[in-house]
Amino acid sequence: MTDTVMTRPAPDPVPDLPELHIGALPADPGADTARLLDLASALRAEAPRVLGFPGNLAFDFSDLGPALSILTNNVGDPTSSDASGVHTKSYEQAVVRFLAQTAGAHADDVYGYVTTGGTEGILFGLATARRHLPNADVYASDQAHYSVARAADLLGLHLVTLPSNDDGTLDPESLKVAAFFHRRVRPHAGRGPGAIVVATIGTTMRGAYDDVTELRRAAAVAGDVHVHADAASGGPIAAHAPSNPRWNFAHGADSISISGHKIIGAPVPCGVVLARKDLVDEPVIASEYTMASARTLGCSRSGLAALLLWSALRRLGHTGLRAHILRCLETAQYGVDQLTQAGVHPTRTTDSLTVCFDRPADWIVRKWHLACEGPTAHLITVGHVTRSAIDELCRDLRTS
Ligand SMILES: Cc1ncc(COP(=O)(O)O)c(C=O)c1O
Repeated sequence: MTDTVMTRPAPDPVPDLPELHIGALPADPGADTARLLDLASALRAEAPRVLGFPGNLAFDFSDLGPALSILTNNVGDPTSSDASGVHTKSYEQAVVRFLAQTAGAHADDVYGYVTTGGTEGILFGLATARRHLPNADVYASDQAHYSVARAADLLGLHLVTLPSNDDGTLDPESLKVAAFFHRRVRPHAGRGPGAIVVATIGTTMRGAYDDVTELRRAAAVAGDVHVHADAASGGPIAAHAPSNPRWNFAHGADSISISGHKIIGAPVPCGVVLARKDLVDEPVIASEYTMASARTLGCSRSGLAALLLWSALRRLGHTGLRAHILRCLETAQYGVDQLTQAGVHPTRTTDSLTVCFDRPADWIVRKWHLACEGPTAHLITVGHVTRSAIDELCRDLRTS
């Protein structure tokens, strides 16, 4: 019995099927729909075993099905007029207001919009920072997501990668030393070049929260500072975590990006970016034919993503979101306890949903969709991750 489990090839719910090649066969809408439904059920059946990634798969937006029969395009700014009139901007504004409050700001003091995901939010945040601090370098830790390097490259900004502490947080002392050095070599008429700091709120591998207040203070030796909080995974978690991590506008962030399909949960990748309103240009109509102002990176933007996020947050509210986060944190602690008993040396930083442990055999990694880096694997206890899945994982770990 054990042998068969260990040698069984991992199921691939998304095989590359020649029959799917467009133009290969005459169209058969009935068969195509049946195949799509099969794919959806296979992916849904697999979801409880997807433990290693931050996307929350516990949702059902099927009541929004009619929204799939209309194009909703939120052209330009969420608060702007729009000649097409086929948009969901009032819903988008509600999402931005809600997450601005979650991020410790008064909604009126923040500009924001629904993005394609955390990556676009980082690009927007760094572009905003560059307008005010054109001579500054970008500082981020070796635990920052690779999107930070990509955004810096696209914007022609120099990235300084700094070492992290054992717990995965960016070390403020090393930031201070690097910022001081850059001020010495580039004094800029005594004002210093400034510093653009990316604080990661929930690092990708360990789920650690950088301390925005400490990092802002450390970077000030370079002159003016812009802190972008990359809160793709951890923003809403930090907002409700018992240890109150310092991550938001009230703690000194100037811009913040959050993914929508991670802890909140959505069937399409999406997110929200927020920035201090005084750092963003005044709105001007970008073109006569759209009649919309556009400080967004894209012109056309998904009205569906805004609806999905609104629906998720409307159901939860701040109280429901808090209860959801606290449940996920309890599951993470349960994971630590069970993995300790399974003998795989789990570690977890304070108030993180990420539990790291010894990398197991490949068949376990594949079966449970674990994320690995070197000798370490991790699971992330987002909404769909249950105690019984953790129990079964631990049984597999003991048998291997
Ligand atoms: C810390 C961090 N930043 C940014 C991203 C990228 O976000 P997205 O996948 O929504 O573009 C991720 C994705 O996992 C992440 O963990």
